[in-house]
Amino acid sequence: MYSMATTWLAAVLTALINLSAAASNFHRSLPSLPLPHGIDEIYVDCVNSTGLVVHALSAGCHQDSQDQSVLILLHGYPEIAYTWVHIMPKLASNGYCVVAPDLRGAGRTTGWDTKPYSQVDLAEFSDINMVRDLVSLVYGLGYTNVTSVIGHDYGAIIAEWAALIRPDIFTSSVHMSNPFDAPRTPSHPAPIYNDPPNNTTSTTSKLEQQEAALAKLSPPRKYYQLYNSQPSAANDWNTGGALGQRAFLRGYFYTKSADWPENHPHTLNSSDATQLAMIPRYYVMYQNESMSETIQSLTRGYNTNVTQSWLPDSDLDVYISEFQRTGFQGELNWYRVLTSTAETTSNFLMAGAKIRGPVIYLSGEKDWGTYQHPGALESYNKTCADFRGSFLIEGAGHWVQLEQPEALVERVLRFLDEIRS
Ligand SMILES: *[C@@H]1O[C@H](CO)[C@@H](O)[C@H](O)[C@H]1NC(C)=O
Ligand SMILES: *[C@@H]1O[C@H](CO)[C@@H](O)[C@H](O)[C@H]1NC(C)=O
Ligand SMILES: *[C@@H]1O[C@H](CO)[C@@H](O)[C@H](O)[C@H]1NC(C)=O
Ligand SMILES: *[C@@H]1O[C@H](CO)[C@@H](O)[C@H](O)[C@H]1NC(C)=O
Ligand SMILES: *[C@@H]1O[C@H](CO)[C@@H](O)[C@H](O)[C@H]1NC(C)=O
Ligand SMILES: *[C@@H]1O[C@H](CO)[C@@H](O)[C@H](O)[C@H]1NC(C)=O
Ligand SMILES: *[C@@H]1O[C@H](CO)[C@@H](O)[C@H](O)[C@H]1NC(C)=O
Ligand SMILES: *[C@@H]1O[C@H](CO)[C@@H](O)[C@H](O)[C@H]1NC(C)=O
Repeated sequence: MYSMATTWLAAVLTALINLSAAASNFHRSLPSLPLPHGIDEIYVDCVNSTGLVVHALSAGCHQDSQDQSVLILLHGYPEIAYTWVHIMPKLASNGYCVVAPDLRGAGRTTGWDTKPYSQVDLAEFSDINMVRDLVSLVYGLGYTNVTSVIGHDYGAIIAEWAALIRPDIFTSSVHMSNPFDAPRTPSHPAPIYNDPPNNTTSTTSKLEQQEAALAKLSPPRKYYQLYNSQPSAANDWNTGGALGQRAFLRGYFYTKSADWPENHPHTLNSSDATQLAMIPRYYVMYQNESMSETIQSLTRGYNTNVTQSWLPDSDLDVYISEFQRTGFQGELNWYRVLTSTAETTSNFLMAGAKIRGPVIYLSGEKDWGTYQHPGALESYNKTCADFRGSFLIEGAGHWVQLEQPEALVERVLRFLDEIRS
C-alpha cells in the first residue's frame, strides 16, 4: 500500500515539476490571485491529452490520499474559478478535496485556440470536448472518479454533460442556474427522451425560427445566446461600451441578482416568443441594443453598488484584471457552440440517455435562468434516473455562490450526506 501511494505521489509530483520546467514562464509571470486562507493555485499539465495546462483553485486536498472524496466546481459566464472562493474552504473543512478549474477559454488555463473569430476551431469548445477536458483533469490530479461535479451557469451545462457521458467518473452532479436541457432532435420542438434521433438540421432551424418570432415582437427582441455568438460581442464585453468595463460588469451582476427589484421569475408555458418576451432583457434583449446598452438601460435610476456586500470591488478587480488579459472571446466561443448546428450535432449521440447518478437542481429564488428553457425543470424526472429535487435559495438571484454562499454550502453538504448513506 505504502509503496503504491508513494509511486502515485511521485508521479503527480513529477508531472507538476515537469510543468514548472516546461510550460510555465507565462504562469510564473502572473501575480498570485488574492485567495482566502486554505485555497491554493495549482497547474495541472494535460498537454499530452487535451493540449491544456489547466489552472485550478484547490482546497483541502491531501496529496497522499487517493481515497479522498473529490468535488469539482465549474464556473459559468462571465466568470472564472475565482467565483467559488467563498464556498471552497467550508466544503474542504468537511473533508473534501475541492478543485475549481478555469475552463477552456477562461482565466489562467492555457493551450486553447486563441486564433481570430473567423479562424478559431470551435470544435475545441464543444460540450463533449469540454467533458474530455474534465476527464483529463481528474486523471491529472491522480484520481479516477469524483463524488460530485457542481456546475453553475455554463459550467452547469458541462457538469450535466459530464454526468451524462461518464457517470462512472462523475458519480453525482449539482446543476446550478441552468436546468438540464436534454439533447433535442429535429422533428421535436421539445426535447425527447426515448426516440432515436432522425436528422440533425434542427438546432439552427429552431433558433432561426425563434429569432424570427422574437424579431416580430414590438419592440423587436433577440436572444442573448445568439447575440453573444456574433463577432461584435467580444468588443462590447471587453470595453463595457459607454458604461466602461467596471460599471458594465457590476451592472450585469446586479441585474441578474436578487438585488434588482425587477426580477420576478416564473415558469413559462412554452418557448413561444410572447412567453419568452416576459424574460428580462439581459436574456431576451431589444434587437437594437448591445449588452452594454441593455445593462445601461436596465440599471438607470438604480444604485448598483448595493452589490458591494457580496461582490466587493476587491473581487470585481480580480475578474476585471483576468478578463483584461484574456478578453472575453474565449468564453464567448461557448455560446457559438450552443448556437451552431455543426458543433451540437454530436450531442445527438446521447439522445434518449438519462443522467444516471444522483442530481439536484439549485438556484436563487430570483434567477430567471431556472425558467429560460421552458420545460427543462419540469422534465428532470424524465431526464435523470435519480433526481433528488430542486431547491431555490431565498435572497439570491443568478449568483447563488456569491449572494448566499452559506445557504448554498449547507444545501450541497446535505445532498452529499444523502448520497453517501
Ligand atoms: C508528455 O509526453 C512527453 C513525451 O512523451 C513526456 O516526456 C512527458 O513526460 C509527458 N508529460 C506528462 C505530464 O505526462
Ligand atoms: C473511485 O475511486 C476510488 C479510489 O481509486 C475507488 O476506491 C472507488 O472504488 C471508485 N469508485 C467508483 C464508484 O468507481
Ligand atoms: C430534418 O428536419 C428539418 C427541420 O425540421 C426538415 O426540414 C427536414 O425535411 C428533415 N429532413 C429529413 C430527411 O427528414
Ligand atoms: C423519424 O422518422 C420516421 C420516418 O421518417 C417517423 O416515422 C418518426 O416518427 C420520426 N421520429 C421522430 C422522433 O421524429
Ligand atoms: C400558463 O397557462 C396557464 C393556463 O392557461 C395560465 O393560467 C398562466 O397564466 C400561463 N402562464 C404564463 C406565464 O403565461
Ligand atoms: C431600442 O429600442 C427601444 C424600443 O423601441 C428603445 O426604447 C431604446 O431606446 C432603443 N435603444 C437604443 C440604444 O437606441
Ligand atoms: C459606486 O462605487 C464606485 C466605486 O466603486 C463609485 O465610483 C461610484 O460613484 C458609486 N456609485 C454610486 C451610485 O454610489
Ligand atoms: C420527481 O419525482 C419525485 C418522486 O418520484 C417527486 O417527489 C417530485 O415532485 C418530482 N419532481 C418533479 C419536478 O416532477
